[in-house]
Amino acid sequence: MNVLVVLAHPDPASFNHALAATAVDTARRLGHRVVLHDLHAESFDPILPAPEIAKGAPIEPWLERHCDELAAADGVVIVHPNWWGQPPAILTGWIDRVVRPGVAYAFEEGDGGEGVPVGLLRARTAVVINTSNTPAARERKVFGDPLEAIWKRCVFDLCGVKDVRRRTYSVVVTSTPEQRARWLEDARELVSSAFPRSG
Ligand SMILES: Cc1cc2nc3c(=O)[nH]c(=O)nc-3n(C[C@H](O)[C@H](O)[C@H](O)COP(=O)(O)O)c2cc1C
Repeated sequence: MNVLVVLAHPDPASFNHALAATAVDTARRLGHRVVLHDLHAESFDPILPAPEIAKGAPIEPWLERHCDELAAADGVVIVHPNWWGQPPAILTGWIDRVVRPGVAYAFEEGDGGEGVPVGLLRARTAVVINTSNTPAARERKVFGDPLEAIWKRCVFDLCGVKDVRRRTYSVVVTSTPEQRARWLEDARELVSSAFPRSG
């Protein structure tokens, strides 16, 4: 399987980096071809310029590579912290520029863009790994856990990825090394069960 891992966190010493490294290591041990994009390390430019918006618009070769890798992925892993109930801006920019019409979704013939798009991604399963500093009950009750809808409904379901397995590890700021080790083990199991060894 081709597994695409996308990480959005600016600090290489962060727990998010440890989670992404665990996801990459797990998928590789299972024999998958893994592409990792550490968006901050790559200085990914998240700003979608006007000429790039239209379906079929010419895009730069480095961005085309991102789109090709997403289109070729049999599985996708997204790793990021909860920032204001959203992914970090660099990752929403990755969605804007890479999860493009014609790559990830399309409208039916004759649809002016107001209808329900058809998902184009070949990936059947996605794993979303989040961290936060809000206890789960407060996240749901007070904030409504917006990341759940963003990833499951707004992004992956729309693009045809129906099996989305999401975890939030929280509260990170007060967690002990033992707790983090257990979370890393949980992430390893999550990735293994989502993308088992093929053949
Ligand atoms: C700009 C910013 C916004 C944040 N917003 C939230 C938030 O809305 N809810 C929350 O629980 N934590 C929030 N946090 C805390 C991060 O989620 C937390 O630091 C991170 O998940 C811890 O993982 P790390 O050690 O890998 O950074 C925010 C942190 C930053 C820097």
